[in-house]
Amino acid sequence: MDKLVIRGGAVLSGSVRIGGMKNAALPILYACVLVKGKCVIENVPDVRDVTMSIDILKDMGAKIEKIAPTTYEIDCTDVRQGTSRPELVQRLRASYYLLGAELGRFGRAHVSLPGGCNFGGSRPIDQHIKGFEALGARVVMDEDLGTVDCEAPNGVIGDDVFFDTVTVGGTMNIMLAAVTAKGNTMIENAAREPHIVDLANFLNTCGARISGAGTDVIKIRGVRELHGSTYAIIPDMIEAGTYMIAAAATGGCVKIENVIPKHLEAISAKLEDVGVIVEELDDAVIVTGRGQVNATRLKTRPYPGFPTDMHPQMSAMLTRAHGTSIVIEGVYENRFKYAEELKKMGADITVNGHTAVISEVDALHGAEVKAVDLRAGVAMVIAGLIAEGETTITNIVYIERGYDDIVGKLTALGADIKKVSE
Ligand code: EPU
Repeated sequence: MDKLVIRGGAVLSGSVRIGGMKNAALPILYACVLVKGKCVIENVPDVRDVTMSIDILKDMGAKIEKIAPTTYEIDCTDVRQGTSRPELVQRLRASYYLLGAELGRFGRAHVSLPGGCNFGGSRPIDQHIKGFEALGARVVMDEDLGTVDCEAPNGVIGDDVFFDTVTVGGTMNIMLAAVTAKGNTMIENAAREPHIVDLANFLNTCGARISGAGTDVIKIRGVRELHGSTYAIIPDMIEAGTYMIAAAATGGCVKIENVIPKHLEAISAKLEDVGVIVEELDDAVIVTGRGQVNATRLKTRPYPGFPTDMHPQMSAMLTRAHGTSIVIEGVYENRFKYAEELKKMGADITVNGHTAVISEVDALHGAEVKAVDLRAGVAMVIAGLIAEGETTITNIVYIERGYDDIVGKLTALGADIKKVSE
């Protein structure tokens, strides 16, 4: 089992280059199932969730070749419907994009229930199912077998889909099912995340007719078929935000390159709120910490609100803030499993339902902690960077699901961090 060992106290400086967005790359990879022909996808991040997805697709008959360090050529012409292996699919959440993609391409889908990060609350897919049913599919979810089957006896037929809750995965899955449907689909109360726009842009370069992505009403005119294209994935705003917080928390100055500053606005605003300087350039931000940050109150919300995928990192930084901070999780039922790990390092955090109260402590101290999920794991990295002494983080496969070469990138910024194998 690999571990990360961090000696805290380094002040980060220099520049770091951000990779392609994991949560855009995943639906785009599965979207290739809809395309008969070759797609060339650029700026694909080298993270475990992506390699697992590539394995799933190859196993189903896709021809996938890495033709440059972050570029893949993908041909799903020969993909066989319903052949995804449960033991692969159950390892990650994004495999549920196979439902929309298979339904769109074949008029039916068979996929095992997805896995992914367990935040301590449920992560239902009822809205995905409601959407598929609105498009004419019969859906059977067998909790005992752990499978979902969809079948559209008359083909997928465009219609209106109204989500009861804003869902990123649901919005993407319905887009996948609807692009080659007969007729028009309108998704209302759609998620507005930049990766929704990225998926729509990719599908449109393949011949889809999607408009309104990035607003809460997305319109899709069904087309007969999609053709191959070349497409570059947007930069990962969560990876960028993580390095922004690492810079701020250590009181350092870091240029975060290859980003879209607009996507980072909620994170930049919150950092400015706690006393950090954020300078926006065309495709970079420079973050300058000024010693101890101030306490704040934040609530996570769907985009353009403060992202849920950034709150554990923020909480890690706020353990050392001046005053008492309040962090409210507004997207998931629970996402505070990391609080127990931060407490092992001396943090003062009390969690009550959706709210964490974080009070100032003089210092964090190094300890052995574990990554309880992806963002919780990287929050431990930030805590380790600002703690006194040595922190050991176990269970780092979670961190590797979403961060490419975090050890190399932080080392280049001056951190004392290494990966050790037992
Ligand atoms: N929800 C329902 N019913 C549904 C779908 C969602 O009640 O049918 C609820 C969820 O339980 C949750 C909320 O709606 O409370 C939002 O869930 P959403 O569907 O938006 O999340 P997701 O698609 O499962 C993606 C990312 C997550 C990220 C969320 C929110 C991927 C593979 N995952 O999950 O990323 O937290 O959107 O932005 O894109 C991560 O990268 O660390 C990560 C967890």
